Amino acid sequence: MTTLKAVRGTRDLLPPETALWNRIEATARDVFARYNFGEIRTPVFEETALFARSVGEETDIVSKEMYTWEDRARAQSEKTQSLTLRPENTAGVVRAAIEHNLFESGQLQKLYYIGPQFRRERPQKGRYRQFSQIGAEVIGPPSSGSESPLRDAEILEMLATLLDELGITGWTLELNSVGSSADRERYNLALRAALVPVVGKMCADCQRRAVTNPLRVLDCKIPADQPIIAALPVIADSLDDASRAHFAAVTAALDAVGVPYTLNHRLVRGLDYYTRTTFEFTHGGLGAQNALLGGGRYDGLSEMLGGPRAPGIGFAMGEDRLVLTLLAALDEKSPIQQKAEAFIAPLGDKEKADELIKLNAAALVLARELRHQGLWIELGEGSFRLKKSFEAADKIARHIIILGEDELKSGILTVKNFSTGIQTKVPRAELAVYLSTPASE
Ligand code: HAM
Repeated sequence: MTTLKAVRGTRDLLPPETALWNRIEATARDVFARYNFGEIRTPVFEETALFARSVGEETDIVSKEMYTWEDRARAQSEKTQSLTLRPENTAGVVRAAIEHNLFESGQLQKLYYIGPQFRRERPQKGRYRQFSQIGAEVIGPPSSGSESPLRDAEILEMLATLLDELGITGWTLELNSVGSSADRERYNLALRAALVPVVGKMCADCQRRAVTNPLRVLDCKIPADQPIIAALPVIADSLDDASRAHFAAVTAALDAVGVPYTLNHRLVRGLDYYTRTTFEFTHGGLGAQNALLGGGRYDGLSEMLGGPRAPGIGFAMGEDRLVLTLLAALDEKSPIQQKAEAFIAPLGDKEKADELIKLNAAALVLARELRHQGLWIELGEGSFRLKKSFEAADKIARHIIILGEDELKSGILTVKNFSTGIQTKVPRAELAVYLSTPASE
């Protein structure tokens, strides 16, 4: 029989790596709490129209990469609806905010999410078909201050803090402004005009996009098209005074708070909902897929989805890429997972079944006692030979506790510390303190 494997582009995450995932998520939750964000969890699938309207029909994500299917609207029903596994979470968050009237409170909504996203991309290092994002969005009616450049700068400062607390160094913040929707229209006209004489030499996607959505020509990855794209006008030249002033205020606040950035006028990002500030944090250690995270402002998204005017800004980090970056920095001396404090080895006579049952049960009682005192304990098995218990314990714990008939009767246990090699007797009542005191190293 052929064995079944995880589907191409999907992965199983196993210990000890999952400890790193948990650490990243715990750090992110801690930072988000300090910046006063609350968690939102939206469904993993949504109506296809949500992504078509927000991310945009002509983007790579919507036109090529979505997992979409026709689903029966109700059991037994003939009527179907088009559903899609979410390729990103911003559209779902804004849909939920509109659906639950979150903007009516007049308050700024500060929401974060952690969860799987799905895109049918060609898998490679750092690029998967199921991947996890840690993201956050700040949205609200204009009266809540949602349009202020201070929101942009605060988000970017929070990201610098989060990467710092995760222990990720050596990142670059690339920053741009794609302007208001009016600026974008002006830029699209300029692009269209510039494309007329050259588009015939470009790939089929570019030829179509030059007509339908010229901005998306800038997403093209075909090598032969790159010199043509490099010579196209830049969006910075199409920004009006208000967009320029907004961007200048963002960079001034970043300068004041000491977050370094580089300007990249080609950074238009592959999603249609962006307005004004756009950004990516890249990392040299990641290879071709070097974006650790991306984000930007989307002042018109709520209205695109039929909601009230609610400008916003947000980002999503590729959690898989955070893990890759951190794994590359780990070595033998700083393993992902620490060892258990102790391995309890019941030591019985294999020939005496009754004695073994009693000792194993006593070991379970001792493990429960120590675990209830907050210790990380692994429990062995009474039928193991002493040598086997030692070998197993040495791999996963800092100490081994021997529990035989004598120890059970006397209440004095034999404990060996693997790193110092010291073997000593410890009264049961003092075990927890002994095991967790660094002096026992
Ligand atoms: P995005 O740039 O499409 O933006 O994705 C954000 C991040 O998700 C990327 O920088 C990357 O780290 C990670 N990512 C994307 N695709 C993959 C993949 N196939 N495999 C592994 N990681 C991947 C968004 O999704 C926007 N919703 C971000 C945003 C939030 N903008 C405003 N608010």
